[in-house]
Amino acid sequence: MSSKLLITGGCGFIGSNFVRLARRVRPGQALVILDKLTYAGNLENLDGLLDDPEVSLVRGDIADRRCVAAVLDRGVDRVVNFAAESHVDRSIEDASAFIQTNVVGTQVLLEECRRAAVKRFLQVSTDEVYGSLAPPASARSDDPLTPSSPYSASKAAADLFALADHKTYGTDVVVTRATNNYGPYQFPEKMLPLMITQALEDRPLPVYGDGLQIRDWIHVEDHCEGLLLALERGRPGRIYHLGAGEEHTNLDMVHRLLAQLKKPPTLIKHVTDRPGHDRRYSLDTGSTRDELGWAPTHTLERGLAQTIEWYLSHRGWWDKIKSGEYRSYYERLYGTGGRYAATTSEVTRGSQVP
Ligand SMILES: NC(=O)c1ccc[n+]([C@@H]2O[C@H](COP(=O)([O-])OP(=O)(O)OC[C@H]3O[C@@H](n4cnc5c(N)ncnc54)[C@H](O)[C@@H]3O)[C@@H](O)[C@H]2O)c1
Repeated sequence: MSSKLLITGGCGFIGSNFVRLARRVRPGQALVILDKLTYAGNLENLDGLLDDPEVSLVRGDIADRRCVAAVLDRGVDRVVNFAAESHVDRSIEDASAFIQTNVVGTQVLLEECRRAAVKRFLQVSTDEVYGSLAPPASARSDDPLTPSSPYSASKAAADLFALADHKTYGTDVVVTRATNNYGPYQFPEKMLPLMITQALEDRPLPVYGDGLQIRDWIHVEDHCEGLLLALERGRPGRIYHLGAGEEHTNLDMVHRLLAQLKKPPTLIKHVTDRPGHDRRYSLDTGSTRDELGWAPTHTLERGLAQTIEWYLSHRGWWDKIKSGEYRSYYERLYGTGGRYAATTSEVTRGSQVP
């Protein structure tokens, strides 16, 4: 049977961008996508790709052992695991789906990959597993994991199961950890698409607390290129860090978006901070860049401009999302009497970390 790459969570934001990249740069590689199509999974993220005879889609759950076994038995020899519950705020409301998919699902995948003698398993993870870091420190891959949110705790657990699989059974497992992604097809509950779409609708932009939390922003295509290299060149049992070194406060990012969209800063509404909100994430990417020969190519300015352009030209994509279940989610969080009800309007531009 010919070689097949399984991409779990391929209907989500990063997974669908990875499918697109893989078709473009590895046209001979057949792809199988396994996705549960949760609220975050969207067939429209794969527009045009599902007509491709080398791409097949199975709707199913990574925690469903029989389904995973049947998919792997189609001749899958490598797996990239994107499937996850991925939104911190939802994990604060209820962590059970996070444990079920991110922890149990990853463990089921690992066990079934072992049974099916899959050659390589890549676990896609996040800088959030290291918890908050004071400047100027950047996390190294041998640093301790100190996750703060139920989401990051579940990702840390999954990473540890993946690495334990390698140590215990000698399986070929690679873990990647990336910083905050931005780009096309990101679900508008995440910060950048939330702010872009709110601004386009002239609605308030909810900024948590003082907005001075620092994140390192990477364009999703740069992340996907790093993932492909880690899949092809990474060494078993290693952890690779994918970040662009673009550290900015959330407030600074929101001001950049507003400036590009020519919308007033008065749209900003500071809301109650998220509990356990990490102040800063940062990854040391030096050894990954050297070893994989990878470097991001998008500048933040150009990447943001392209992302805004994408949301402007794909209004139908996000209008549909924002008019569905999303509406009640938004009200639960940011509406009057919501968990993070508004506190003040933005009046000054501040971007210093206290
Ligand atoms: N977005 C980021 O900035 C970022 C940064 C670093 C790492 N990551 C990691 O990258 C991965 C992808 O993130 P994303 O932002 O694309 O997430 P996303 O929420 O956009 O997509 C997740 C996808 O997984 C699918 N899924 C969920 N539960 C499933 C299950 N039980 N079985 C099969 N499919 C299931 C969903 O339907 C969806 O298509 C996640 O593992 C996340 O932790 C994300």
